[in-house]
Amino acid sequence: MTDTLDPASLDPASLLGRYDEVRAYTERLAAPLSPEDQTVQSMPDVSPTKWHRAHVTWFFETFLLAGNEPDFAPFQDQYWFLFNSYYEAIGPRHARPMRGVISRPGAHDVGVYRGNVDDRMRDLLSSLDENALAKLAPTINLGFHHEQQHQELLLMDIKHVLSLNPLQPVYAGRAATPGHAGPMGWVEYDGGLVEIGHAPSSDGDFSFDNELPRHQQWLGPYRLADRLVTNGEWLEFMEDGGYRRPELWLSDGWGRVNAEGWAAPFYWTEREGVWFEHTLTGTRPVDPSLPVCHVSHYEADAYATWAGKRLPTEAEWEHAARLEEDTTTPGYAPNLADTETWHPRAAGAPNGRLRQLFGDCWEWTSSSSSYLPYPGFHPGVGAIGEYNGKFMSSQMVLRGGCALTPPGHARASYRNFFPPGARWPVTGVRLADDGWNRCCE
Ligand SMILES: [Fe+2]
Repeated sequence: MTDTLDPASLDPASLLGRYDEVRAYTERLAAPLSPEDQTVQSMPDVSPTKWHRAHVTWFFETFLLAGNEPDFAPFQDQYWFLFNSYYEAIGPRHARPMRGVISRPGAHDVGVYRGNVDDRMRDLLSSLDENALAKLAPTINLGFHHEQQHQELLLMDIKHVLSLNPLQPVYAGRAATPGHAGPMGWVEYDGGLVEIGHAPSSDGDFSFDNELPRHQQWLGPYRLADRLVTNGEWLEFMEDGGYRRPELWLSDGWGRVNAEGWAAPFYWTEREGVWFEHTLTGTRPVDPSLPVCHVSHYEADAYATWAGKRLPTEAEWEHAARLEEDTTTPGYAPNLADTETWHPRAAGAPNGRLRQLFGDCWEWTSSSSSYLPYPGFHPGVGAIGEYNGKFMSSQMVLRGGCALTPPGHARASYRNFFPPGARWPVTGVRLADDGWNRCCE
């Protein structure tokens, strides 16, 4: 996290307002789910909804109330064990793959826990003087952004849970309005010596530690596809033997294709020759105009090889995103969680710029930019330093946000990351290529 915070937000009323807003949104997302829905853990990577609701509460209790609340005592001693995610410095914790067996506390009990911590957080925020507020504000702000991360995960996770229910229940909403993707075009960039990393002037006051420090990178001329790869284009890849041709695949990816029988994106199933896709708004025929989603980095890379292109590097994506941000059409509304589409939508007509840059699908970046620390990166001090840095191994970076990302949580410098074989996050593909003026085409 950064140590800076907009001075305008450094007053108790602003922080209290923000606190209530973030906390209420989590409960709103969980509201369509029964206590039974909220208890299921469908695979080790998925956490139950009520665990997310409790864990983000544990974060405020552990990193803010403990140490700052007079006569602090945990709401429940066992909750410190149950709802610690991965913080070794805080102490032992319940095994991640076993979160689904926590039938008690139930969803209602978690609500009581949330209410208790909310009351105590409001008391704490109201009691802080200016100096104390300035000292704690970065951690409070981190708590907001941490809860937003889990809001997105809550939706991705319940999507997997519901996908395994033979009744195919719907989370909420209706199918997206039919649209069209338009032809894929290209936007060219000169490259050169560029800067990437969090820039408070355009990214807002907050960043996670992995977005720092801002630093220079050299880019050759390059170009990016002006929209995401569609389901229709992915079907062409499949029909051309994309999942059966080892020459298209990274070795590890080909291993997963064979070991796990990959033959289509994660949530696709074929019935009597027709492909269907599970979504949070129901299971329906695959719409060729929508972006393909729930494909791993391995699949994204194989598709790019098949198409004679490549994936963008992190620096290319961020450099282009900053240029686009400067020229974004007023009124443009990315497809983030506040649209309540709960799914990527069609790109629409070309406009000479990058479409679907923020929202819709997280975009895989190339294997030449796997998740590593930026030059000069230093994790924070203490337990909070475990937030991002210790995962900088065997992960790939994704950029841009998705249709389940809370508004205010997408920015040009944001570095999301997942293992290259992950398929349950909402992940898609934007192609890249070297610039025209680089050689002699
Ligand atoms: Fe967390």
